[in-house]
Amino acid sequence: MGRRPTDQHAPGFAGLVWPVRTRRTTLRPVTPADRDAVHTFRSREDVTTYLGRGPMTPEDVDERIAENLARAQPGHEHPLLGLVIELDDAVVGDCMVRFEPDDNGMRIAFIGYTLHPDVAGRGLATEVARALVRLCFTELGVAMVQADVFVPNIASQRVLEKAGLRRIGMTPAGSEGEGHPRMDDLLYAVTAAEWAASPHPGGRDEP
Ligand SMILES: CC(C)(COP(=O)(O)OP(=O)(O)OC[C@H]1O[C@@H](n2cnc3c(N)ncnc32)[C@H](O)[C@@H]1OP(=O)(O)O)[C@@H](O)C(=O)NCCC(=O)NCCS
Repeated sequence: MGRRPTDQHAPGFAGLVWPVRTRRTTLRPVTPADRDAVHTFRSREDVTTYLGRGPMTPEDVDERIAENLARAQPGHEHPLLGLVIELDDAVVGDCMVRFEPDDNGMRIAFIGYTLHPDVAGRGLATEVARALVRLCFTELGVAMVQADVFVPNIASQRVLEKAGLRRIGMTPAGSEGEGHPRMDDLLYAVTAAEWAASPHPGGRDEP
C-alpha cells in the first residue's frame, strides 16, 4: 500500500521566507487581523460564483483563517498554506497551496487564488499563480502542481495557462460547492520537469 507523501515529508512551511514578492504584489501568510479585508471580497456573490463555497460572513472568514493557520502547522494531516495577496500595502485577495494526499509517493500540490474585483483584469492573478508555482517547485519540493476550475470560469483557466499549467482532465458535475448547481470541473497540471524546461521557469513577474 502506498504511503501518503505528507506522512513522509513535512511540507516545511516553517522554513519559507516572507513576504514572497511578485512584480506588483506581495504574498504572506494570512493572520486573524486580515479578517475584514478578506471579508470584503469573500462575502461577494460575484467573487464566489466559481468557488467551492458561497459568500462568507465575517465569522466564516474567522473560521477559515483559523483553519488555514492550523493546517500550516508542521505535521498536519491536510497541509495547506493560506496566504493573502497585497497590492500597495492593502490586502486585495487570497491564495493557497494545498498538499494532496496520494498513493504514488508523489508530492502533488493544488494552488488557488481569489482577487477583489476592483483589481481584476490587470494580470495580477497570473503573477500570483506563477509565484505559487515557483514556490511549489523551488521551495516546497513539489513534483506536480495542479488546480481545478469550473468550466464556465474562463478567466481562471486563462490564468492557469499563462502560469504554465495545461488541462489534463475533466470531472463531469465534479463540484460539490454550496450555493450553486453542480458544474463540470477541469483539472490543470504542470510537472516539475515541464516547468523547468519551460522558457520562463521563474515566471516573468519576479520583482
Ligand atoms: C478569475 C480571477 C482569479 C482572474 O483574476 P485576474 O487578475 O483578472 O486575472 P488576469 O488578469 O491575470 O488574467 C485573466 C485572463 O482571463 C481573460 N479573461 C477574463 N475574462 C474572460 C472571459 N470572460 N472570457 C475569456 N477570457 C477572459 C483575460 O483577458 C486575461 O487573459 P489575457 O491576459 O490573455 O488577456 C479573478 O477574477 C477572481 O478572483 N475571480 C473570483 C475567484 C475565482 O474564480 N478564483 C479562481 C478559482 S479556480
